[in-house]
Amino acid sequence: MDRRRGGETVDRLMAQMTLAEKIGQLNLLAAGEGLVTGAATATPLAKRLDAGQVGAIFGTKSLASARDLQDRALAGSRLKIPLFFAEDVIHGHRTVFPLPIALAASWDMALIEATAGFAAAEASAEGLHQVYAPMIDVSRDARWGRMAESPGEDPHLAGAIAAAMTRGLQGDDPASPGRVAACLKHFVAYGAPLSGRDYDNASLAWEDLLEIYLPPFAEGVAAGAASVMAAFNAVNKLPMHAHEPLIEGWLRGTTGFEGLVVSDYTGIRELTAHGLGSPATVALRALAAGIDMDMVGEDYLAHLPALAEAGLDAPEAGLSVPAERVRALIDRACARVLGFKARLGLLGDPWRGLTGSPPAPDRAEGRALARKAAARSAVLLKNDGLLPLAPGARVALIGPLARDRANMLGTWSVSGRAADVTPLFEAMTAIAGRPPAHAPGCNLVEEDWLVDRLNVHGVTVTRDPRPEAEMLAEAVAVAQTADVVVVALGEAKEHAGESSSRLCPDLPAPQRRLLDALAATGAPLVIAVFAGRALALGGVDGRCGALLYAWHGGIAGPEGVADLIFGRAEPSGRLPVTLPAAPGQTPVSHAEDPTGRPWTGRFVKFRTGWLDLPGDRQPYPFGFGLSYTEVDYAPPRLSAAEAGPEDRVRLSVTLTNTGPRPATETVQVYLSDPEARITRPARHLVAFRQVDLAPGATREVVFEIGADLARYPLAPSLEEARWVRDPGRVVLHVGPNSRDTRPVELTWRA
Ligand code: NOJ
Repeated sequence: MDRRRGGETVDRLMAQMTLAEKIGQLNLLAAGEGLVTGAATATPLAKRLDAGQVGAIFGTKSLASARDLQDRALAGSRLKIPLFFAEDVIHGHRTVFPLPIALAASWDMALIEATAGFAAAEASAEGLHQVYAPMIDVSRDARWGRMAESPGEDPHLAGAIAAAMTRGLQGDDPASPGRVAACLKHFVAYGAPLSGRDYDNASLAWEDLLEIYLPPFAEGVAAGAASVMAAFNAVNKLPMHAHEPLIEGWLRGTTGFEGLVVSDYTGIRELTAHGLGSPATVALRALAAGIDMDMVGEDYLAHLPALAEAGLDAPEAGLSVPAERVRALIDRACARVLGFKARLGLLGDPWRGLTGSPPAPDRAEGRALARKAAARSAVLLKNDGLLPLAPGARVALIGPLARDRANMLGTWSVSGRAADVTPLFEAMTAIAGRPPAHAPGCNLVEEDWLVDRLNVHGVTVTRDPRPEAEMLAEAVAVAQTADVVVVALGEAKEHAGESSSRLCPDLPAPQRRLLDALAATGAPLVIAVFAGRALALGGVDGRCGALLYAWHGGIAGPEGVADLIFGRAEPSGRLPVTLPAAPGQTPVSHAEDPTGRPWTGRFVKFRTGWLDLPGDRQPYPFGFGLSYTEVDYAPPRLSAAEAGPEDRVRLSVTLTNTGPRPATETVQVYLSDPEARITRPARHLVAFRQVDLAPGATREVVFEIGADLARYPLAPSLEEARWVRDPGRVVLHVGPNSRDTRPVELTWRA
């Protein structure tokens, strides 16, 4: 169905629909077959379907159940309006890929697009039409557990990922075979909660909102994303489910987004807890703000019928809306739901995606992609020449995650199966041809209450009942038999994810004690960290010869790590977030605004910094990662040192692989604007390019630089925001990460 015909169908349906039928379309319910992430009580789904009171369902677990539900919905709908089906497909569906934060570390947009494309094909084979991805919340606070799902700290990288994932999920058309509609989430600044505490509010300069948190959404919309999900938090005092200026104003007005906006779970009724009024008042606020569908809460269903009859006069909440306006808002939301269904091809064929779709793609193909993605996502942070391991080396594998399956999947892997994971022990055995010596060394965490919390979505953490001293002694004895010890440490999958904020994002205490014991043996240590966030590793790196940050890598995560350890793959991952040196350094990013007393990297009295941060502890900077080879950067050159506002300047840098192994190098360009009308970030990423370099190869990488890169917002309020560009000097910094760069200056004429 083309979009024009879809529009005609929407108009025709709208003309025939009763008010109750329109309100029914706004109701988005859970199938109740999977993960429940709120305290909502069971919904009488069948009753609602029979009464034509459901617009869409999320969380079905099979094609058969989606078909049954569609059958029932069509029977209950006078005008035969079909449901659409949605699901949380965050980093793969049955084939679980590395966490989004890990995929971001690949800096490889083609790879990210391919993983999203594979996930879309698996999801659509199960009758899903929409997935709640990509999650594109810029995240600079490692305490926040949803950093796991995020593209990291940088808006430029996040924007590229938003576009790549949208392309991968939707292809050219979300209604085409094997594709699904993307849903950009969580709109907006959900990644900037106070204290890193999930669901908490964000208060920030409008400039920060415009320059850090909104751009990934603009990129996702430009790539054609068909839907958006609102965030639970308030932004500058107004909760997002009631944020008309940002949803109707910026999202629809400024970016031209024409798709569907859904609430997040019970986000509409939560407006009452935010202090915005009675249940009826907040339902109307959300509708007016532009939330088209109400997920789970059924607040639209409960309150819109009466509001459409009588309007609302609530002076205590500062709201007065006549009934006519309420009906117009219901029409607006309903037309958008129907427009979305038209875009999915469902108004022309209610069984679109439920019958005759291509079967799920070959899982072996997905597994190979997942393994490649895992190897490309892991970041080599330190290597004193230990890696790759020498053939024939006697290897021990120690640590609580050495034989783990379930935690490797990572959070938000709702359709993944632990049985699909090959643990590191098996992956290393398969490559080396013999098993490594092994001991678990310690428990993942020591507190019983924490174990219970980590097992909220099923048991992934169990405790070895032996005394810690016994486990440590065993590990030390095993280490002493080996030439090199691989230590598998990190977090459980539910250490990160929704509602899993951590006070202290570092390695759990028993793991640090294990590391102390192993370091004391003098055996060379290779540490592999499996985690869902940027853990503070200060003090850990000093104890090992090599450090590999492997995140939670999905079904083939440990195999990707084994490939790197044995040199079957080349490390190319680069950090998409700064790894703090100490937990208290969060939030942190490479793009902080300078102070008048800038941080020098070490404590200096009367300068910005931390009194209790040891002098030898440095964060691993954004963009950082090592290879098994050396890549030399010649000084960057500009085609002109001065340029007019419409000119394009060529920035080039010559790279040479001076080492013995191939490299995949991510060349990064940062910009700083030393003189502006407001404080600008000390530097921020403006471009990157990934290139392959054979041993000994030299290659020139060229970037086209326009004056638009130096634009920045001035925003005393959202409404008064404008983007400006000043003439004058900017500095471009080129290098392999955000710290080790070389500068070149460019002057823009007026
Ligand atoms: C709440 C989460 O915030 C959101 O990301 C998710 O898509 C919905 N629940 C549905 O599961």
